[in-house]
Amino acid sequence: MKKIAVLTSGGDAPGMNPCIRAVVRTAEYLGWEIYGIRRGYVGLIEDDIIRLTGDDVNDIAQKGGTILKSARLKDFEKIEVQAKAAETLKKHNIECLVVMGGDGSFQGAKALSDHFGINVVCLPATIDNDLAYTNYTIGFPTAVNTVLEAMDRIRDTMQSHQRICIMEVMGRRCGDIALFAGLAGSADAILLPGIDVDYKELAEKLIDNRSRERNSNIVVVAEGFGSCAEVRKELSKYMEPDYLRDIVLGHTQRGGRPNMQDVNNAIKMGSYAVEVLEKGKTCRAVGINHGDVFDLDITDALSVPTIIRKDLYKLSQIIAD
Ligand code: F6P
Repeated sequence: MKKIAVLTSGGDAPGMNPCIRAVVRTAEYLGWEIYGIRRGYVGLIEDDIIRLTGDDVNDIAQKGGTILKSARLKDFEKIEVQAKAAETLKKHNIECLVVMGGDGSFQGAKALSDHFGINVVCLPATIDNDLAYTNYTIGFPTAVNTVLEAMDRIRDTMQSHQRICIMEVMGRRCGDIALFAGLAGSADAILLPGIDVDYKELAEKLIDNRSRERNSNIVVVAEGFGSCAEVRKELSKYMEPDYLRDIVLGHTQRGGRPNMQDVNNAIKMGSYAVEVLEKGKTCRAVGINHGDVFDLDITDALSVPTIIRKDLYKLSQIIAD
C-alpha cells in the first residue's frame, strides 16, 4: 500500500485545514495509508508523526490555523538536517509528501526530492500571496477580509474624532494584502514596498481630505514598506501630530474561519496534489490561475518574478483622490 504524509510549514494560513482534509480524504479514496507530520519540518526531523484517517479530519474544514501545527526551521537549509528528515520518512516507508507553505517550505521540499528521492508536491499556503507563479495562495482572501473588517471598526472611531489611522498590515516583502485591502476598504493612501512616498504631499492631501470630510481616515502600510510608527513620525513633521494614530494589525490577520474561496480552492488544490503523486510525478508545485488548477516544476515555480501591480496601485490612487 502506498504511504503518503502531509505537513504544514511556515506561517499558518486560513484554508490549511480544508486542504489537509482534501489530501487525507482523496488519499483514502485511492486506498493509501496517510500520515500527518506535526510542526512542519521540525516534526519531520523529530519523528513527530501521527496516523491520519478520513475520520480524523471530519470537523476541520471551517477552522482557521492548522490541526497539524506549523513551525519555521531555518536550519532546514542544511543538508545534514534534510538527511534526518528523509531518514524519518524512509523509516516509516513513506514515499510521498505533500507540503503546504510559502517559498522557504517549497525549497525544503525540493531538497528532499532532489537529494533523497522523496516524491514531493507543494501547495501555496500563505496569507502573503507572494508566490508569483500562481494567481492565488491559500489564506490570502480570508486575511484581506479580516483587514477589511478591522478597517471598518477603525474608521468608525477615526471619523468620529476626525483622526487618521496609519494601519500596518502583514505581507513580508509583498504588498498584496495592503493593496487589495486598501483598495477594497477605500484607504486614503496605500504605502507599498518599492514605491516611494512624498510625506509632505501625503500630509497635504490628508489635511485637505480632512477639511472636506472626504477622507476614509485610514492609510494602509504594508509591513514591507516600513513600520506604521515610522510613517506616523514622518507625517507628523507636516501635520498636527494629534490627528494621527497608528496600529499594527498583526497576527489577527492569520486567524479565523477560512472564507468560501479559501475553503474551495484549498479542497481543489489538496485533492489535485494527491492526483499528481498518483501519476508518479515529483518536485511539483500546484497553483490556480483563473479557477484552473495546474502543476509545474518547483524550480520553475520559484523562478517566476514578483509581480508589481502598478495598474491596481494607480487605480487605488484615482479612487482615493
Ligand atoms: O508569512 C506570513 C507572515 O504572517 C508574514 O506576513 C509576517 O511577516 C510573518 O509571517 C510573521 O511571522 P511570525 O508569525 O513568525 O511572527
